[in-house]
Amino acid sequence: MPKIFVTRKIPDAGLDLLKLKNFKVVVYPKLQPISRRELLKNVQGTDAILSLLTDKIDEEVLAAAGSQLKIVSNFAVGYDNIDVSAAQKRGVFVTNTPGVLTQAVAEHTFALMMALARRIGAADRFTKSGKYRGWDPELFIGSELNGKTLGIVGLGRIGAEVARRAFFGMGMKIFYYDVKRDLNFEKEYHAQFLSIDEILKNSDFVSIHVPLLPQTHHLINKEKLKLMKPTAFLINTARGPIIDEAALAAAMRSKQIAGAALDVFEHEPKISSALKKMDNVILTPHIASATKEARDNMARLAATSIIEALEGKIPQYLVSNTK
Ligand code: GLV
Repeated sequence: MPKIFVTRKIPDAGLDLLKLKNFKVVVYPKLQPISRRELLKNVQGTDAILSLLTDKIDEEVLAAAGSQLKIVSNFAVGYDNIDVSAAQKRGVFVTNTPGVLTQAVAEHTFALMMALARRIGAADRFTKSGKYRGWDPELFIGSELNGKTLGIVGLGRIGAEVARRAFFGMGMKIFYYDVKRDLNFEKEYHAQFLSIDEILKNSDFVSIHVPLLPQTHHLINKEKLKLMKPTAFLINTARGPIIDEAALAAAMRSKQIAGAALDVFEHEPKISSALKKMDNVILTPHIASATKEARDNMARLAATSIIEALEGKIPQYLVSNTK
């Protein structure tokens, strides 16, 4: 009977699909990321690993699993936690969960943008702490999204959905950068393709949607932050190491930019203590895809890829090695 190791409890929507089959499914029982030692032990002899973005799946893990391993199915759209080329050399499939979390992440990105613009976090703390003494014409003045420019760095599925909300919903002007131009997108959204530097210089809001790759590590560093307008906001719902977090804290301290919202961190789960203290910084704990709809569908997709691989098919959502 094929053996599957699931590195942490995921929604039953996915586990139930696996349990319907003639597989031996072992789910790591603790509610915290599995330790390296336990990961190496538990993958031994498995045919499939259902991994999370908190698990580093490298050659050592693949070797520990053994030559019968057929698939690593990552419960995430990002797969920077997996050494894809090591898996490919061993003939092991690697899959992710694209598409099903696009709306959730775009909505969370928008929630962060709006919370930054209208200072929701600080206003909430102010009100709950009993400081509200009555209506004031100048209390918590924010900025409007309407008519502002949004720079999208990375026009994948999620970046495009953020742009759609911004253009049709908020009347924002869209700038974007990607490794390739998309003329249809430009036409439909009256969007302008710019270099990253031009985006940083000209945008009121900058939202990051590239994957984490060696080329995008610290893409937003000290020099890039200097290009931004002092009134601009930076949002990151992609991967933490794309932004140099220490440089961001320094830029915020010296008021080089107006605010930042981060759902992901350079050294997760550790977060710069300087950023934690700033009122114009909004931090959420890597929950952009955390909707019932998205997480159930991610679980179904991750399970379906395993079923495909173990039933001798080529899984539909194979990732490509982009390194
Ligand atoms: C979440 O960060 C994901 O990549 O799905």
